[in-house]
Amino acid sequence: LHLLSVAAEMFPFVKTGGLGDVAASLPNALRHHGVRTRTLLPGYPAVLSAMTDRTEAHVFEDMLGYRVTLWEGIAQGHHLYAIEVPELYERAGGPYLGPDGRDWPDNDMRFAVLSRVAACIAQGCLARGSTAGWRPDAVMTHDWQAGLVAAYLHYDDNPGDRPAPPVAHVIHNMAFQGLFPREILSRIGLPDRAFTMEGVEYYGKIGYMKAALQLADRLITVSPTYAEEIQTPENGMGLEGLLQARSSVLTGILNGIDIQDWNPMTDRAVIFPYPIGDIAGRRANKRVFQAEFGLPQTADTMLLGIVSRLTRQKGVDLLADIAPRLFQSNIQLAVVGVGDADIMQRLRGLQLAYPRNLVCHLRYDETLGHRLHSAVDASLIPSRFEPCGLTQLHALRYGSVPIAARVGGLTDTIVHANTAAIEEGVANGVLFSPTEGDALYRAIRQAQRLFQQRSVWARLQRNGSLHDVSWHGKAGHYARLLYRMAGRSAGKGD
Ligand code: ADP
Ligand code: GLC
Repeated sequence: LHLLSVAAEMFPFVKTGGLGDVAASLPNALRHHGVRTRTLLPGYPAVLSAMTDRTEAHVFEDMLGYRVTLWEGIAQGHHLYAIEVPELYERAGGPYLGPDGRDWPDNDMRFAVLSRVAACIAQGCLARGSTAGWRPDAVMTHDWQAGLVAAYLHYDDNPGDRPAPPVAHVIHNMAFQGLFPREILSRIGLPDRAFTMEGVEYYGKIGYMKAALQLADRLITVSPTYAEEIQTPENGMGLEGLLQARSSVLTGILNGIDIQDWNPMTDRAVIFPYPIGDIAGRRANKRVFQAEFGLPQTADTMLLGIVSRLTRQKGVDLLADIAPRLFQSNIQLAVVGVGDADIMQRLRGLQLAYPRNLVCHLRYDETLGHRLHSAVDASLIPSRFEPCGLTQLHALRYGSVPIAARVGGLTDTIVHANTAAIEEGVANGVLFSPTEGDALYRAIRQAQRLFQQRSVWARLQRNGSLHDVSWHGKAGHYARLLYRMAGRSAGKGD
């Protein structure tokens, strides 16, 4: 089966969070199920320069007012298409935000062009006039940035010689909706009739995510619990009714991680490599990490770590609230993260006040993001909501015990250490709710008591490292949905 995947970020070329990881690791996993993926990305400089030996696949002289060169090439084993439009994608800053931390003012056009080019490829524009051309059997779109693909295919008045392939939209995070004023409707090339409740309209605006939720053939979200949560007012962003109405095509499939990248025996970020599940092998890593981070090298102090975007979603503000209380009880905390200015400011202040307990690296650092989980005793994920979450999977795999809020995918991956689960030998972490400072504080203190019972703690660590965090079964689930959607039986290859 030939799949076109459409995403706004992809590791290692450009990544702000888990979407980038999944956009890279899922195609690799799908390959084992006969799904051959090509990924369409905006032509950020990092993407174009990674595509060595690229060839020009197509030129669109006027794509929503822009001249677009579509490049095709291989980068790090991925078959990529990249959209070169210098005035849209070649600039210093992040993929969504400028250096001032605000959304790029032309995000409406940047991601409309991405989706419009994807729709053209889906309709076979690369196949025309060339026997070597390519057209996908199915399209997978990720988050709001690719949400308009389904709309372009739905409202196309000249659909070409064959029906367009079906679209599966993957919801990674409902909190980002991609909302723009209705006045841009014709600029993004959609007809007036698209601006209805059954189309792209979202409470008087144009919603790029909404468009996909309404018009894609299949909806997939990144954990079973989040699939339920987004059908409720708390997490549905006003779209819970629509999602309930479409629940027969909505599926939650947990994310996996690339277990080759995340192997403490071969990971170059890990200072003292150790085999999965070797708890004793982690001790030296904790010692050297404490030294590297300038913390006292005490083995009996519980060392907590967090690798995260520093935003409200991730609940790091709650951690800052309780930090002074926490540091009275022989606890160390290492933070690797970047995000909201006010959260970073508070963390800097706390670091000055508690230099023996807290150390922060307030930047994006892939190496530290790996190393941390090989060294800390427990990894914190105090999220207010979490569609799936990848850091708890990293923690489990590396033998760090996750302490996490009982929300979304965290619920689906962590078995809480209550008395029964400990006695049964199945616990692998600590869950708490609600996501509030006091509950987080209590969860950390509970974890500290377990930490002091060495054999119980070691069992939690071992259980975690045995937990299947790979893509194995999950990619099969994706593949079956894609085959079914494309009207083919699974396992036929291409
Ligand atoms: P989200 O996508 O909501 O940010 P996930 O847990 O799904 O949350 O994925 C976050 C990804 O980004 C993980 O791979 C994590 O290791 C990584 N990450 C987040 N912040 C940093 C950082 N400051 N440095 C390195 N890696 C980070
Ligand atoms: C989003 C979510 C996160 C999820 C990631 C990958 O960024 O916030 O929970 O793991 O996407 O699907």
